Parts: sequence; structure tokens; C-alpha cells
Amino acid sequence: ARLSRRRLLGGAAAAGAAGAAGIGWGAAAVTHRDHDRDPGLDTVAFYGAKQAGIATEPPLHAAFVAFDLKPGSRREDVIGLLKIWTDDASRLTQGKPALADTEPELAARPARLTVTVGFGPELFTAVALEDQRPHWLKPLPPFGIDKLDAAWCGGDLLLQICAEEATTVSHAVRVLSKHVKSLVTVRWVQRGFRNAARGQTMRNLMGSVDGTVNIAPGTVDFDRLVWDDGSSRPWLAGGTSMVMRRIAMNLETWDELDAEGRALTIGRTVEDGAPLSGTREFDVPDFAAVDRYGIPKIPPSSHIARAHRTHDGERFLRRGYNYDDAPAPGHMSNSGLLFASFQRDIDAQFLPVQRRLADFDALNQWTTPVGSAVFVIPPGVPGPGGYLGQQLFE
Ligand code: HEM
Repeated sequence: ARLSRRRLLGGAAAAGAAGAAGIGWGAAAVTHRDHDRDPGLDTVAFYGAKQAGIATEPPLHAAFVAFDLKPGSRREDVIGLLKIWTDDASRLTQGKPALADTEPELAARPARLTVTVGFGPELFTAVALEDQRPHWLKPLPPFGIDKLDAAWCGGDLLLQICAEEATTVSHAVRVLSKHVKSLVTVRWVQRGFRNAARGQTMRNLMGSVDGTVNIAPGTVDFDRLVWDDGSSRPWLAGGTSMVMRRIAMNLETWDELDAEGRALTIGRTVEDGAPLSGTREFDVPDFAAVDRYGIPKIPPSSHIARAHRTHDGERFLRRGYNYDDAPAPGHMSNSGLLFASFQRDIDAQFLPVQRRLADFDALNQWTTPVGSAVFVIPPGVPGPGGYLGQQLFE
């Protein structure tokens, strides 16, 4: 059965209440060791009903790595790979070297490392479990705004690796990749960073406060809108889905806009991210508010007016990162957003919003989607002895 609209709408009242207080990630699963002296020693629990790295407050650095299974891979190969990743991640996230770690010294600073694993649509074909593939796990439809480069699209398996230190991320990527190199090839690697003081909303490379309207972990809304409850597919209880869009920013032409033009494009001020109908970042936008000439304070063409949900079920967790890579010859920049969203049902929650933005969004003049991928995020590993994805295979 598909996730019904009624179920998504179920907690609408609770949803409204969450808005004004801000996102409030909470630090539930973080273990502070000698925090005053060295936050590089902090760890995030690996075991649990859900994978870490989704309800976890995003740390400063991330790498998203997509892999393809080598032709002829069988179910046993995939299970073997997932057991290796489980063992490696359970150690590295706790500040211990992986087995046969060639740089064990680099494991000593976990820096809140999380390793999150996802499965792409084709993985289900490779392991002959197509009947277990969620109906929403398929490449996104093409949009008129897209200029997709195949080099940033798709993938059979995903690793999302996040930590407060870039060296920790690099080491984890290297260990997890090379331990399964006989089974997979790397399809793409996307690295990103954020820059917010703890408890504040990050800024993207256009200068905007980005991530204000979001779903707070640990709330009824988060449980309802992000985590699957297994009602349609028992193996997926505690899992979710991820949409990954690589969106390039044209910062050269964005430079031509002054602060007012930028505010009208987004619907919020650049200075502190307050909606143009209010004065503070977490004021709830009033899309009906007009100025003394009767003109809407938040332009209907602005990004937040277009992205705003038309009903409670059109919501998802945004947990993106900035990217800033080397420009191609003749260009000045190669920057943008690694847009990552998590939701129970891509079709019901994400797609209507993306369609609306593709139809029209003032921001589209300066942004171009160049990569696109979707993954199902299986549940977590409840305790030692289990492995990532076990619920699907047994
Ligand atoms: C809000 C930037 C792409 C969905 C915002 C805000 C900014 C922003 C500055 C206002 C602050 C906030 O609430 O976070 C961007 C940039 C993008 C981008 C720079 C591309 C480079 C997308 C995409 C989607 C999306 C692809 C979904 C398909 C949303 C939603 C909101 C939002 C749902 C909250 C709207 C509300 O107020 O209800 N974005 N965004 N954004 N964005 Fe984006």
C-alpha cells in the first residue's frame, strides 16, 4: 500500500507548532569525550534502529560517494560488502581503526563521524529482490530546468560520510571504498561543507541563511514524515529515502543583484534570513501580507513562496552542504549546493515541491541542477552481530 495522504496529514496540528521555534537538532546521540579540550574526540553512536547521519546535526564536512556494483554481482556479494561496511563503520565512528586499517592513526579523531548507507534503484535488480523495491525508488523525472551531467547521476550504493574534520571524512571514504574495491566501482564523489556555529542555521554560497524551515529531529513530525514505520514494507521500518541534487550556482550573475534583489528572489532578507513579512529568522512567513500599495511582501515568484508546502504532506528534511570545486578552464567558479533531502515517500513529499520549483522559481535564473540521484536508506543495525541492510536480505 502506498503512503496515504491522510496518514501524512495526520499530525498537521503538531506540525504547525514546530515552525516558530526553529529546527533544534538536539545532541541526543553525541558522546562528548573531553569535550572542553578536544571536540575531535566526540563520537555519534553507530548502533540503533535508525542509521545515524540523518537526525544527527550536520557536522562541518561531508562526502557523498556513489558506487556501482560490478557486472555479475550476486546477492552474496552485496551482503558481504554490507558486512564489511558495517564492521568498518562501527569501528571508525567510535574512534577505532578499521580491521587492516593502513592509517590507524587517522581513526583516532572520529569528530562525530557518521556513515550512512543507501541503496539505488538498480541494486534491487542485482540482488533479485525487485518485489521489495519501494515504488518511489526510481530516477526523478526530467525537469525543464535540468542540465544533468551523467557523471553526477545515479548509483547502486551510496555512502554519506559526515564529520567535523575533513581528514576524518577522507580517511573513512578511503577505508570504506578500498575494502570493497573488488565488488564495486566508484561512480561519483561529491564533497561539501557547512559553516554555522552550533545551533545556528548555515549559509549557502549565495550568502543566504539556508535551512530555516525544516523538520526538527525527535519530534512527532520527524517520525511521521522522515522515518518509515514498516507499514508498507516491513523491512523498511526505521528507514527513509534520500534525494540528492547537485545544483550549480551562477555566482557571476548573482553578483549583479543587490541585497534587495536577493531578498526578493528568496523571500527572506540576506542579512538574517527573516521572511520579508517579518523581522526575525524564525518568524513564520505570512504569504498573504501586503505592503501599503497592496503588493505582497513576499513575492509569489520567490523561492520560499514557490517551495512552501501546499499541504502538510509536502514536507521533507533538508540536510544539504555547500560545494566549491575547481572551475573549468575559462570559468571563475564551480560552486553550488549539494541538496540532500530525506523523506518517507519521494513521490508524495518531494516531487510536488520540485515540480513547482521547476515550473517557476525566481531563483532558477541563478541555479541549475546538474546532478540527480535517489536512494533508499535502510534501517540501522540494532546491535553488534547485525549488518546494514540485513532486514532486506533475511
Ligand atoms: C527554503 C535556498 C533548492 C526546497 C530555502 C531558503 C533558501 C533556500 C535560502 C530560505 C531559508 C530556509 O527556509 O531554508 C536554496 C538554494 C537552492 C535551493 C540556494 C539551490 C541551489 C531547493 C530545492 C528544493 C528546495 C531543489 C526542493 C525541491 C525548499 C523548501 C524551503 C526552502 C521546502 C522552505 C520553504 C518554506 O518557507 O516553507 N531554500 N534552495 N530548495 N527551499 Fe530551497
